[in-house]
Amino acid sequence: MSRKTNRTVYLNGEYLPEGEAKVSIFDRGFLMADGVYEVTSVLGGKLLDFDGHAVRLERSLGELDMAAPISKEDLLEGHRELVRLNDINDGMIYLQITRGAPDDRDFVFPDPNETPSTIVLFTQNKPGMADSPVAKVGLKVISIEDQRWGRRDIKTVQLLYPSMGKMMAKAAGVDDAWLVEDGVVTEGTSNNAYIVKGGKIITRHLSNEILHGITRKAVLRFAREAQMEVEERAFTIEEAQGADEAFITSASTFVMPVVEVDGAAVGTGTPGPVAARLREIYLEESRKAAI
Ligand code: PDD
Repeated sequence: MSRKTNRTVYLNGEYLPEGEAKVSIFDRGFLMADGVYEVTSVLGGKLLDFDGHAVRLERSLGELDMAAPISKEDLLEGHRELVRLNDINDGMIYLQITRGAPDDRDFVFPDPNETPSTIVLFTQNKPGMADSPVAKVGLKVISIEDQRWGRRDIKTVQLLYPSMGKMMAKAAGVDDAWLVEDGVVTEGTSNNAYIVKGGKIITRHLSNEILHGITRKAVLRFAREAQMEVEERAFTIEEAQGADEAFITSASTFVMPVVEVDGAAVGTGTPGPVAARLREIYLEESRKAAI
């Protein structure tokens, strides 16, 4: 099979051509979605908020009783080396760690002394990622029921329901879906969700029900530093439809306006000033702090 790209990827300490990096069919990431991941953005050849991602990775591993197979220093070195080898100016680094490949399929966790974890890193090249024209137009979303498991604070690779959510959005002719549980929004399929009402930024409080976004943390800090009012609480779809603005955040989209929810225009139906300002501040500050 010929490949469209020929990246150098990282697998268990080795840098290899992507077509030569092979993982066992017994790997628990493949059989049981027993793995965690991170996505770190690269702008101008530098990593955005590497520390934040490393800290969350450590937490995800700890919550699943998985040993960290690599030190933070080596992880940083791996990220930087892949940026260099693949000549990435703008894009992402995907990192995945699984509980490794025991000799056979078994629900019981293997002994970590006998089964080393699998670690994979690869780059995604996205030239001009920070200048996405979508930021000028905004996204349309639908709401769907949140049918994910209860530990969404752990960044696991079990992404089937979020994938199904993206497909439901696609079938409805929109860009993404917001997940609703007990009548209130949890988050987007692969991002945190926000509304703006009367100048106040409203986003769901942290708990096991949502992923603790690294971009969310940074954006809320920048918002507070800019004297914007922030309220961390759940909101309904009706509230979003009646809001002045809405937006999402994630490592790959930064701050992205949402202009329509379930067919109803949010505010003027065009990207609003708060989202635009936050995007600008986030990109500026993150670039400054990038390593
Ligand atoms: N997704 N919520 C969910 C469910 C996510 O999957 C993500 C990230 C976020 C935002 O987190 P952060 O700001 O740390 O990227 C919130 C990544 C980008 C992905 O799966 O590709």
